[in-house]
Amino acid sequence: MDTIGVDIGGTKIAAGVVDEDGQILAQAKRDTVPGDPAEIDRAVADLFLELSADHEVGALGIAAAGFMSSDRRTALFGPNVAWRAYPLRDRVAELVGRPDLKIVVENDANAAGWAEFRFGVGRDVDDMLMLTVGTGLGGAVVVDGRLVRGAWGVAAEVGHVRVVPEGHLCGCGQRGCWEQYASGSALVREARAVAATQPDRAARLLELAGGDPAQVSGPSVTLAASEGDPLSIALLADLGRWIGAGAASVAALLDPALVVVGGGVGEARDLLVAPAREAFSAHMSARGYHPEARIELAAMGNEAGIVGAADLARL
Ligand code: BGC
Ligand code: NA
Ligand code: ZN
Repeated sequence: MDTIGVDIGGTKIAAGVVDEDGQILAQAKRDTVPGDPAEIDRAVADLFLELSADHEVGALGIAAAGFMSSDRRTALFGPNVAWRAYPLRDRVAELVGRPDLKIVVENDANAAGWAEFRFGVGRDVDDMLMLTVGTGLGGAVVVDGRLVRGAWGVAAEVGHVRVVPEGHLCGCGQRGCWEQYASGSALVREARAVAATQPDRAARLLELAGGDPAQVSGPSVTLAASEGDPLSIALLADLGRWIGAGAASVAALLDPALVVVGGGVGEARDLLVAPAREAFSAHMSARGYHPEARIELAAMGNEAGIVGAADLARL
């Protein structure tokens, strides 16, 4: 049975028709995410209707950047989206108007991690941690071949593990969360701060941003780093070290065989992952005696959320 997966990210909404082997048969997207939850519902429903016009599909999986309830209906909270105990599944179902259709909501990182586990870089392991490094820091945990959901559906919200006492304020209401240091938003915050205070050092980033520090973007840091800009390389390395050090703490809890790094910032590839690997090793407990997980880049690219959401909708 083919199913449709829709991925509501921090910056875009992407959808696809997916077959049982995880192959995407058709795709559609919106390049912005409305601020109003009701408009997000509308965009999701429109994408579904657009794709299902040409494909017979048996279910819809919606991956969303936030805390999703264990009955796969409610967006309990979105740190970076305005959901507060929001009946996302039912709202989309009303707009889609197909009572026969199974519709579920899943956490976006759980969906991406599930896709990597089933069809991507995690195919050959049973125990895996996925980190999606984008607007926020998302996580998925697979233990013994099963996605860990927890009692309320919100296991693996690793972005909100505290890594800095009284650190930066987070969209979840707490301070010092890992996502404030290991996300695309953290990268942009740091890059803009340097651009505003040390324009010489940030000359290339400022050039790409039309001279305005507030316009420095994540993709421009990745671009500048790939051209050899020392500041951008250093910013990505810093981000990589936050990822690796935090992953070492998660490893103390879960003992994964593999840590997968995905999300938009994953496009920086080795510039991000090499420092992450070094920091992971450096912060490992019982170092030298503790078998170490591999850290690998995600293999399914930006489509992981679509594929994972579509696949989870079958279960
Ligand atoms: C949210 C997660 C989400 C992650 C990536 C975090 O801020 O709490 O639910 O998976 O961002 O989008
Ligand atoms: Na998750
Ligand atoms: Zn937080």
